[in-house]
Amino acid sequence: DWSIENFIEMEIEKIQEKVGDSNVLCALSGGVDSSVVAALIHKAIGDQLTCIFVDHGLLRKNEADDVMKVFADDFNMNIIKVDAKDRFLSKLKGIDDPEKKRKIIGNEFIYVFDDEAAKLENMDFLAQGTLYTDIIESGTETAQTIKSHHNVGGLPENMQFELIEPLNTLFKDEVRELGSQLGIPDRIVWRQPFPGPGLAIRVLGEVTEDKLKIVRESDAILREEIAAAGLDRDIWQYFTVLPNIMSVGVMGDARTYDHTIGIRAVTSIDGMTSDWARIPWDVLERVSTRLVNDVEHINRVVYDVTSKPPATIEWE
Ligand code: XMP
Repeated sequence: DWSIENFIEMEIEKIQEKVGDSNVLCALSGGVDSSVVAALIHKAIGDQLTCIFVDHGLLRKNEADDVMKVFADDFNMNIIKVDAKDRFLSKLKGIDDPEKKRKIIGNEFIYVFDDEAAKLENMDFLAQGTLYTDIIESGTETAQTIKSHHNVGGLPENMQFELIEPLNTLFKDEVRELGSQLGIPDRIVWRQPFPGPGLAIRVLGEVTEDKLKIVRESDAILREEIAAAGLDRDIWQYFTVLPNIMSVGVMGDARTYDHTIGIRAVTSIDGMTSDWARIPWDVLERVSTRLVNDVEHINRVVYDVTSKPPATIEWE
């Protein structure tokens, strides 16, 4: 009968048989699904797996280093880390429309991945972390697109690879259990959802390095405080947004004119609908104090108290 242990054993055999002495390529994002698929395939075929990890410069604080530490150092996987920050930022320069930003990031990701993949030889297979729910959902997609979702699973169809999708019979909770069994640390297995376009859609309007820094630093503080309060598994998603609003404040005796930061924290089952999280006021107070004290260019903190619908979880 079905168990994670049996699943691992059977999948390993299947993968080994399918791949033979060829090689497998995988786009690693550090998200749950791509991490678990990489770990499973690595267990099956070791060095015959190569992962490409594109750092688009839109990741959270320390995220790229952490992904490399876990998978390159601890798991000893072959990982090609592509530092593509400048490439993405220059493409985003001057662009303030949310859908345009999403398209640019999605396309650029594919170009960067393509460039790297083209340098490799004898790669016949592409591993993807498609889940059972991804298959069902794409069959029932609504006609109207609210946002063009991009994630690193979405690679071009003209690539000459045969797909390997070992998670496509699993639900998210089973993927997490599988990840734990494979030795992936809790902080990755239980990671909150993070959108493919990353922090670019949390800086409203044009993305600049300075604005990314504000949102990255403030996000790190929020995450620290939510974890310290023991709320990190209760809240579906929690992050900060930079709405690009300047307002007047006072610091010491001096007038300031600086950025407002928004806190978004929601409870949800599947991200389709959500409610704003009732974070205790003393936690919010600690977060607010640290945000204005520790992050340069923030002089005001607001809390988003809208459910989805009518708002979406992300602000762009
Ligand atoms: P919204 O903002 O549409 O988000 O309410 C619902 C969930 O989807 C995540 N999200 C994305 N995930 N690529 C992704 O992989 C994307 O482009 C993207 N946009 C939003 C969002 O973080 C939330 O969990």
